[in-house]
Amino acid sequence: MNMIICKDANAVGKTTAQEIAQLITGQGKCVLGLATGSTPIPCYNELVRMHKDEGLDFSHVTTFNLDEYLGLKPTHEQSYRYFMNQHLFDGINIELCNTFVPDGVGGDPRQCAGVYEDQIRALGPIHLQILGIGNNGHIGFNEPGSSLASRTRVVTLTEQTIRDNSRFFSSMEEVPKFALTMGIGTILEAERVILLATGAGKADAVAAAIEGPLTASCPASALQLHRNPIFIIDEQAASKLERKEYYIHAQDAMASLISS
Ligand code: PGA
Repeated sequence: MNMIICKDANAVGKTTAQEIAQLITGQGKCVLGLATGSTPIPCYNELVRMHKDEGLDFSHVTTFNLDEYLGLKPTHEQSYRYFMNQHLFDGINIELCNTFVPDGVGGDPRQCAGVYEDQIRALGPIHLQILGIGNNGHIGFNEPGSSLASRTRVVTLTEQTIRDNSRFFSSMEEVPKFALTMGIGTILEAERVILLATGAGKADAVAAAIEGPLTASCPASALQLHRNPIFIIDEQAASKLERKEYYIHAQDAMASLISS
């Protein structure tokens, strides 16, 4: 698995933005899978800067977000649609009709999940999927115990996720208890996957995902099955990796091989 260990969260954001910029500059139609949460914000800030200062063009880009809370309207400040508009889409030249977020208020949620899966199938494949990781190892809202072959569906959030995300709401009670999420099987079909993690709080989840067993108890460990996963993480998030020294050595050795 490819590992890029960066100094801090800003460096993680810049490195990831460069990967995205390279991809969308190098091809015509391009489909990105995007994530919400605190971790990708520096990456989105950098993409907005690259658009403004360097003319990075998003007019040919389609995006699919990983997940959305059930019951929050797109205008709700904690909805993931609102988050994406605020942190990325409003600052770049993407057509909003090419940005997809699961519909958490569209009627029968199971039907909305099926529609989303069909949209990904019709407009995909996703060329590059960005992922965060939960303290409990979740990717998207695929909580521990999710089938590794799961598709986009309605899920019940764990107590821990509700607690972790309550920092964005005025109380725990306000956090939605259900969400729509791309499944792990859906995520694994992306051509490339980049998982981002920053801060010491993610160190256990990162170690379990990369060096632990492949298990539904750590949904991010499913990336061990992906053909092209990259982990872009900071030093704190990497601090519990047993083979950290090897990963750093491999990163340096590969860079010098490519430049020679
Ligand atoms: P965070 O969330 O980036 O806010 O830590 C990540 C996640 O829960 O997937």
